Amino acid sequence: MAPSLRARLLGWLLLPLAAFVVITGAISYDAARQTANLVQDSALLSSARTIVEDVDWDNSGLSAVIPPAALEIFESPYRDQVFYKVIANDTRLLVGNPQLPVPSRLDSSPVFYDTGLDGQTVRAVAFPRLLYDAGKVDRVIVVVAKTQGSREAMISQLWHPQLIRQCLMLALVAALVPLGLTIELRPLMKLKDDVADREPMQLEPIGADHLPFELRPIVDAINQCIARLKLHATTQRQFIADAAHQLRTPLTLLDTQIQYACGRDHGDASLEEALVAIRRSSRKMTEMTNQLLLLAQAESASPPCTQARIDMTAVVLSALEELIVAAEQRGIDLGAELDDSVPVMGSANLLSAMVMNLLDNAVRYSHDGGRVTAICRRDGDGMELRIADNGPGIPAELRAHVFERFYRGSTEVEGTGLGLSIVREIAHLHGGTVTISPGENRVGLVVTVRMQVANQT
Ligand SMILES: Nc1ncnc2c1ncn2[C@@H]1O[C@H](COP(=O)(O)OP(=O)(O)OP(=O)(O)O)[C@@H](O)[C@H]1O
Ligand SMILES: [Mg+2]
Repeated sequence: MAPSLRARLLGWLLLPLAAFVVITGAISYDAARQTANLVQDSALLSSARTIVEDVDWDNSGLSAVIPPAALEIFESPYRDQVFYKVIANDTRLLVGNPQLPVPSRLDSSPVFYDTGLDGQTVRAVAFPRLLYDAGKVDRVIVVVAKTQGSREAMISQLWHPQLIRQCLMLALVAALVPLGLTIELRPLMKLKDDVADREPMQLEPIGADHLPFELRPIVDAINQCIARLKLHATTQRQFIADAAHQLRTPLTLLDTQIQYACGRDHGDASLEEALVAIRRSSRKMTEMTNQLLLLAQAESASPPCTQARIDMTAVVLSALEELIVAAEQRGIDLGAELDDSVPVMGSANLLSAMVMNLLDNAVRYSHDGGRVTAICRRDGDGMELRIADNGPGIPAELRAHVFERFYRGSTEVEGTGLGLSIVREIAHLHGGTVTISPGENRVGLVVTVRMQVANQT
C-alpha cells in the first residue's frame, strides 16, 4: 500500500530539518567549544602572569611563591583541579608539581596545550618570561594547568539551549504537520462523502466553492466525468423511451389482431390454447412497455417537477374509477377518505401513474374479498397519500428491495417489477418521499407518499 500523505509530507519536512538540526548543532557545538577554550585559556594566562609577577631573587637565587589570587581565578562550582609549576632556566623546579609536562619547543610567547596528568586530561599554558637582575638574565617558565570540568559545563551551557530549541522545533513540526493536514484535508473528506452519498442517478456537478484551489482540478475532472455520464444516461433513457414508444403501436395492433383471431371459431382446441397464451404474452409485453415508458419519462424529467397545479383528490378518484371493475370482480372493498381538494405542483400524467401503480398493487396483491383504502389528506403544508390494504403485506427484510427495478416478491400474480421504482422516481421528482410499513395490527401494507402542497394562488 502506498504510504499516506501525512507520512510522505512528514518525510519531506522532517528529514531535511533533522539534517539541518544535526549540521547547525555541530556548528554551534564547535562555536561553544571555541568560546569556552578562549575563556579558559585567558584565565590560565592571567593566572600564569600573576604567578610570574611574584618570582624574585633571594639569597639562594630565584624563588617563587604562588599568590592566592593566581588560583582564585579558577574558583567555580565545578571544583576543577589546578596544577602549576615554576621552573628556572629550563631545569630548576622552583615550586609546583614536577610531573606537569612542559612543551619541548618554547620561545618567548605563551603556548597553550592539552596534556594529561594523574590520568586526567588537562588544559595547560606554558608562559616563559626573561628576568633581568644585575646584568644576569634568567628564563623562568610558569606552567598552569586545570582539569576540564568548568570548560565542559560552559560548552553545555552555551550549546544545549540551542540544541533543545531546535529539537523542540522538530517535535513541533512532527506534531503540526499531521494536525494541519487533518484539518486541511477536511474539504477532501467532505468531497468524498458528497460523492459516496450520491444516489446512482444523481448526476449534478459537485460544488467546488468551499474547496481549496489545489483541489479544484480534481473536482473539475470529476464534474467533466459526471457530465459525460449524464449525457450517456440521457441518451440511454431517451433510447428506452423511444423504443417503448415505438413498440406501443405494433403491440396494440398485435393485441387487436390476436383478439380478432381468438374470436374466430377454429375448431382446434390446441390452436385456441396457443392463441390465448399468445394474447397473455402480448398483454404482458404491452404492460412492460408502458411501465418502461413511464420510468423513462420519470427519469428524464428534471426535478423539481412543477409544471401544473394538480388536485390529488381528483387524481385518486379517477384511479379508483379505473380500478373499480377489477376490484368488484374479486370482491375487494375499494374505499376512500379524501379531503375536498389537495393541490400539488407537478405533472398530471406522472402523478396519475404513481397513484395508479399504488392502487393497482393494493388490489392486485390483496386476497379476494379484501379491503383497499385510499386516503389523501392535507396536513399543514404537506400532502399525505396513503394506500392501505389488508393483503399479505411485505416481510420487513424484503421491504428495502421492492423499490429495486424488476424486483418481484410474488410470482403467483403477474407483474413487471417496475411499479414501485416508478412510484419512488415520480415522488422524488416532485420533491416527495415514499415509505412502506405494515398495516393496522401488522396486517397488510400501507404505502405513504408525502409531498408539499401547492401555494395558494
Ligand atoms: N400492496 C402490496 N401487498 C403485497 N405485496 C406488494 C404490494 N405492493 C407491492 N408488493 C410486492 O412488491 C413487489 C414489487 O412491486 P412493484 O409494483 O414494483 O412490481 P410489480 O407489481 O410486481 O410489477 P408492476 O411493474 O406491474 O407493478 C411485488 O412483486 C410484490 O411482491
Ligand atoms: Mg406493481
